Amino acid sequence: MLNKIKALKQEIESATAVTQDELEQYRLHFISKKGELTNLFQELKNIPTDKKREFGQALNEIKQLAQSKFRDLVSDLERKKSIPAGTDADLTLPAYDPVGSVHPITATRNRIIEIFKRIGFNVADGPEIEDDWHNFTALNFPPDHPAREMQDTFFIEKNPDILLRTHTSNVQIRLMKKQKPPIRAIMPGRVFRNEAISARAHCIFHQVEGLYVDENVSFKDLKATLFYFAKEMFGKSTKIRFRPSYFPFTEPSAEIDISCFICGGSGCNICKYTGWVEIAGSGMVHPNVLENCDTDSGKFTGFAFGMGIERIAMLKYQIKDLRLFTENDIRFLQQFKTMI
Ligand code: PHE
Repeated sequence: MLNKIKALKQEIESATAVTQDELEQYRLHFISKKGELTNLFQELKNIPTDKKREFGQALNEIKQLAQSKFRDLVSDLERKKSIPAGTDADLTLPAYDPVGSVHPITATRNRIIEIFKRIGFNVADGPEIEDDWHNFTALNFPPDHPAREMQDTFFIEKNPDILLRTHTSNVQIRLMKKQKPPIRAIMPGRVFRNEAISARAHCIFHQVEGLYVDENVSFKDLKATLFYFAKEMFGKSTKIRFRPSYFPFTEPSAEIDISCFICGGSGCNICKYTGWVEIAGSGMVHPNVLENCDTDSGKFTGFAFGMGIERIAMLKYQIKDLRLFTENDIRFLQQFKTMI
């Protein structure tokens, strides 16, 4: 009887059904009440009791095999039926989803814009290829000031007055030159610095600049605005702190840190065990900058800030390597599919 089972197993395994008839034959032959398997089950009563268990098990296994093979044959046949005659297209294959996903930098930029729009900021734009005056001089960088060194610049060889902007602060100048206060704008865009590409640096990255100039704008407004942003972006319980810093175009200047939203301030590897992470540079617009843009510094004051979009995205989504943003690896990009 074991031999019979073995032979039946082979028969089942090699069975095919190209037509509905063949499928029906398979069913009749193997699994119907009058089929081979039923015969074998009937023979079971002739088997000595001590062997019954072994044979019973073997028979049950083969019954399952026959049934699952039947299901396979049914679905194979269904699939074949759906192929239009004369082609080999398989219409039952899962569809390729051609809908792309929003790049995480775009999504982060949109989110930042959306938050500032709610509190009255317009979006402004400026050129990526800039002259020295708008990128440095008008922003109160004296010609040989070491602060220029902090932003290793791509100059155009043929005309060293032309450069790739090192920050979005050039748009502050362009905006104030063409528009009288009140000005309340955010300015997202690409910036360029001569940096070796690594997990933490790239020669092209994105910033968002913010500028608010009007009568009686104070440091208090800067604090409240950035505090609002931090809570909207990173969660309601976020705290902020201002650390004194230096930028030629703001006075006083401050780096803005937020409480680490990963560990809540108790210390982790994201905040390097300090409880705080830096998100932006900021300060009160330097009177020289206002004057360079024909804005009366006796009448108007303002604040400005600048933040790296990659940095915000890396913090928010815990992305450890900046290079992922430009490698276009679909496995990385698709993870942002649900974002807008
Ligand atoms: N432009 C500065 C930078 O790129 C950031 C900044 C913008 C600081 C506005 C203060 C005010 O580092």
